[in-house]
Amino acid sequence: MTKLTPETIQWDQLGFNYIDTGKRFRAYYRDGAWQEGKIEDDRYIKISEGATALHYGQQCFEGLKAYRTKEGKIQLFRPEQNAQRMVDSAERLLMPPYPVEDFVAAVHQVVAANADWMPPYGSGASLYIRPLLIGSGDNIGVGPAPEYLFTIMAMPVGPYFKGGLKPAKFIISDFDRAAPRGTGRQKVGGNYASSLLAGKKAKEAGYADAIYLDPETHTKIEEIGSSNFFVISDNNEFITPKSPSILPGITKRSLLYLAEHELGMKAIEGDIYVKDLDQFVEAGSTGTAAVITPITSITAGDTVYTFYPEDQVGPVTQELYRLLTGIQYGDLQGPEGWVQEVKL
Ligand code: PLP
Ligand code: COI
Repeated sequence: MTKLTPETIQWDQLGFNYIDTGKRFRAYYRDGAWQEGKIEDDRYIKISEGATALHYGQQCFEGLKAYRTKEGKIQLFRPEQNAQRMVDSAERLLMPPYPVEDFVAAVHQVVAANADWMPPYGSGASLYIRPLLIGSGDNIGVGPAPEYLFTIMAMPVGPYFKGGLKPAKFIISDFDRAAPRGTGRQKVGGNYASSLLAGKKAKEAGYADAIYLDPETHTKIEEIGSSNFFVISDNNEFITPKSPSILPGITKRSLLYLAEHELGMKAIEGDIYVKDLDQFVEAGSTGTAAVITPITSITAGDTVYTFYPEDQVGPVTQELYRLLTGIQYGDLQGPEGWVQEVKL
């Protein structure tokens, strides 16, 4: 396979795949302190076979994007929110948090270092930024590591679910991705490992991904394997699940705000029972990678709940997409502090 370069890449053909762009940020935690990080060239990480990330899943990650505006600027969307969420994930897994301010500065540094890989405005692509924190030190007993590595890689990506704002169908899984008082609200690899089989089965059956129910009662929708979930009622309500075992998504938080303040809707975090799905007029999946993916139907056992025909997108979903992506790509003015420019 020929190696992709910024000169040969077809920006509008990109999917959501790993690309080695050549530059990543790395910082090491040794002797009880974070050392100053820097940009490194080698994609490979050399760690001991006794590292806790490998044995006990002591690791967490983040996902955010940089966007090219019409004027050619590069901007980030709410990166401090990702930094804070990574602090929460780190604390839950007894890892030393990487400080919020340093995290944001490192994101700026890695985006600037990979500026050649920034997709052009209008291509539908963006630069995906993946921070990762791993226990790199030895501990063969179940306990935290003495050493850690924080790294941020970046790569151009297209839509996570094929087709951008194209409706997709989903299926409710019998499996759980997280336990009621487990690590569902943290962005830790274990949650994703436990979702792989359900995701594979869903895709093999022709669905975009699996939807998970609340692990305690299996009656309410929680989230999707890679994104949060929302529905729109014919009563002008935007509703997204409230649960201690789902990821507190930054996109979903932003949509709650936009629904209320821009669209004059009632924005609610609450319960969405599977049995009530036929009461809603639109449904969607939302996250950094998924952006907003309209949901055409949800299959729950023998029942199929259809929201919209496969070739159509509901008006509220369409409007939320226009507002969100308009702010992210700099076409619309967002609330104070939502975007910040990366200076080259
Ligand atoms: N839920 C899961 C399981 C996810 O992987 C993601 C993606 O990060 C989200 C929700 C959405 O979170 P965010 O909007 O912060 O990207
Ligand atoms: C994201 O949206 O950033 C994610 O992390 C989702 C998925 C690719 C794991």
